[in-house]
Amino acid sequence: MNFDIVQSFRDHGWLKETEQKLDRKMRFAVGKAREVSWMPYTTENGRWKETRIGWWTNGFWPASMWQMYRMTGTELYREEALRAENMLDEALRNFKNLSHDTGFMWLIHSGVRYALEKSPESFDRTLFAAEMLAARFNPNGFIRAWNGEGREGWAIVDCMMNLPLLYWASEETGDPRFRLIAMAHADTTLRRFVRPDGSCNHIVIFDPETGEYLENPGGQGYQSGSSWSRGQSWALYGFVLSFLHTGEPRYLEASKRVADYFISEITEDWIPRCDFRQPEEPALKDNAAGNIAACGLLELAGALPETEGRGYFEAAVRILQAQEASDANWAADDPAVFTRCTSAWHDIPGRHMTMTYGDYFFIEAIRKLQGDRLLFWYPNR
Ligand code: GLY
Repeated sequence: MNFDIVQSFRDHGWLKETEQKLDRKMRFAVGKAREVSWMPYTTENGRWKETRIGWWTNGFWPASMWQMYRMTGTELYREEALRAENMLDEALRNFKNLSHDTGFMWLIHSGVRYALEKSPESFDRTLFAAEMLAARFNPNGFIRAWNGEGREGWAIVDCMMNLPLLYWASEETGDPRFRLIAMAHADTTLRRFVRPDGSCNHIVIFDPETGEYLENPGGQGYQSGSSWSRGQSWALYGFVLSFLHTGEPRYLEASKRVADYFISEITEDWIPRCDFRQPEEPALKDNAAGNIAACGLLELAGALPETEGRGYFEAAVRILQAQEASDANWAADDPAVFTRCTSAWHDIPGRHMTMTYGDYFFIEAIRKLQGDRLLFWYPNR
């Protein structure tokens, strides 16, 4: 982060009020998490709804706990992070069920705990997660996303956010192969997913034998050729993270291209539609896309000279404030904060739901605005 820009916002009243609201809400959320034996993801009737261990979102709860621990110094949050980290070992034991999402699942809490406390078991979990991700690399230049027969050649834009786990593994072990895999995948994403106008495909299917491009289905967006906003936010943030880990300017340029497009699509109310090319009705929104993009914009702002970065910083703050004013539930009647996250355009029960990662990225953005220099996607920096 460029801390000169952040400095100007540090004493903002909104930031201080939001910190207090988050602490109240997250203490309540921890109480509710301790009533159940599963990892929080979404809520129903004021409680955490049952979610299986191994689901790709599992890492966001302990990562939120580490962010809150750093914000408040309250031991309750650290204890809850460790409880969740231990719970996740079941997913390591059932490793055949893991997808490419091991970065989301371990780097941002086990990797963070290792950086903070040098805990050997957290190191082992994070390295194991990296080995599992590296093992999914197809030498045609992409990381296989999901399991299941027929999906050998499927890659998705979300994977850009898992690459920091591979960079971490190279930095920690001294073995370049993890980084080389990450860069091969990032280059394929740049070539095959990011369009000239800065919009992105969600899924690209390659022939797994030859690497030939086959097709790009609509995935979680409206249709093929449309523009799923969360996919755009994964690309925006993922590319700037690849830049921070490698120093390669092409990744910074890619992040800027996606960011410019993203900003141009949201200026009406600063809350992203689920798909930027969806029909007018239903008017689906996705708070998760907004909060992820805000984190990426803040890192982008920090990676650029101040004159160029300031616009991205201001866009991030506008998104966070607009979403908070419109969609945050601070009441103690539900453990989650953001109410208009959307899992996928065609998933009707998943429209305007709560999600731990919608909330996680908001907390991460608030921590950046408060000046915390620990980047959870680069905890060993
Ligand atoms: N990575 C899956 C999603 O964003 O829904």
